[in-house]
Amino acid sequence: MRVDVLTIFPAYLDALELSLVGKARSAGLLDVRVHDLRDWAHDRHRTVDDTPAGGGAGMVMRPDVWGAALSDVLTEGATLVVPTPSGPTFTQRTAEDWATREHLVFACGRYEGIDARVAEHHRARGVRVEEASIGDYVLNGGEVATLVMVEAVARLVPGVLGNAESVVEESHSAEGLLEYPVYTRPVEWEGLAIPDVLMSGHHGKVARWRRDQALARTAERRPDMIAALDPTRLDKRDRAT
Ligand code: ADE
Repeated sequence: MRVDVLTIFPAYLDALELSLVGKARSAGLLDVRVHDLRDWAHDRHRTVDDTPAGGGAGMVMRPDVWGAALSDVLTEGATLVVPTPSGPTFTQRTAEDWATREHLVFACGRYEGIDARVAEHHRARGVRVEEASIGDYVLNGGEVATLVMVEAVARLVPGVLGNAESVVEESHSAEGLLEYPVYTRPVEWEGLAIPDVLMSGHHGKVARWRRDQALARTAERRPDMIAALDPTRLDKRDRAT
């Protein structure tokens, strides 16, 4: 998979050299390229913004600078992602969808955002344009949101994670439940013991206990997720929880 990031703060994306994403890049599974948007500005001051039409506070990013950058970076069939708090919420389902795409281009806005004609123009030309919010709060720009989305997507690209099963079991997987609590040695710590069932070696009981814990945790912390569960995927024992 190829990922391009356009930003006026390339250093924000340095973290993509670390950990699993960094390893996936070294292994050739991910081709990540970070670009300085100012390279496409055309004045001595490398200006990328201007005052908002209609007045008001802050600055808006210029469509001509973005247009020039995107026409160099977008490939045929690429998806243009615009992180913005006014987009639909990015979820694990979004990550699963984007993990199947060949080329993602992230356009990181700053200030009051990018001139709306940039998204409109590219949509009109048949580019898949995805505006996306990572949650109901406002960041200073799209860079941190891009880090979040690239990490969530990259770990779903085949070969990036060592253990494919951990993708299926973890919180927000298609199962629709939060993950059960986990423990490791020492068996007793600060007067707290690992639950006996986990030490019993009884795989069936362990699986049932984990499922019950996941259901109870989800009911307590995320009742909205319980309401959204597909009842046909629950068994009789789930209902007793
Ligand atoms: N830019 C600023 N805030 C954001 C958010 N919550 N999600 C995505 N991009 C953003």
